[in-house]
Amino acid sequence: MSPRPLTVALPKGRLAKQLAPRFARVGVAAETFSESDRRLQRDAVMGAVPVRFLMLKPDDVPTYVEHGAADAGIVGRDVLLERGSELYVPLDLELGRCRMVVAAPEGRGDARDGHPLRVATKYPRIATAHYAARGADVEVIYVQGSVETAPLVGLSDVIVDLVETGETLRQNGLTVRETVCDVSAVLVVNRVGMKLRRGEINALMACLSAASP
Ligand code: PRP
Repeated sequence: MSPRPLTVALPKGRLAKQLAPRFARVGVAAETFSESDRRLQRDAVMGAVPVRFLMLKPDDVPTYVEHGAADAGIVGRDVLLERGSELYVPLDLELGRCRMVVAAPEGRGDARDGHPLRVATKYPRIATAHYAARGADVEVIYVQGSVETAPLVGLSDVIVDLVETGETLRQNGLTVRETVCDVSAVLVVNRVGMKLRRGEINALMACLSAASP
């Protein structure tokens, strides 16, 4: 057995809560993922494997895994695509399912005459790749959040954003024009971790893949 626990980077918030039932099946107490717990490192035993969970901002999960500070991590596929990450993705957890879409206000969503389509998004790399694949001329405008506002006040013609329930789009009078890609939470592992901690990572995968949430 390795001297230090398997270190697993997790995104704080909604997804951590959804992971709790899967880990509970292998003996990790649901309280380990409590939102009121302010500890950023949480130790547990998963089956017979000692694990240290790092509670991180979702965008930081790949950083910790890429640098080997974590052996593995769980993160939305949107984060990986936007980063252009080359981490191994050995498992799709099929949790946190949503879609990356192009959306626009009802009856609008075309470029103004003689101008490229203006696309507001938190995901400039994903949006740029989506339109480049179509050979479309677009201006991508980066915003950090509340992106649904952009086409309502003339900042953009359309948005590229995540939609889960569709409620945010609906309440802001936007409709989906096309799907860019499906998104869900995935397990990421770095090359060194895959070699040195293979047995424990296999145990982690068995835990995470067992049955549906
Ligand atoms: C995300 C996303 C949409 C919303 C979609 O935003 O960017 O705005 O959730 O969810 P829905 O389809 O269930 O309504 P988030 O809540 O992360 O806030 P943000 O706009 O500040 O990024």
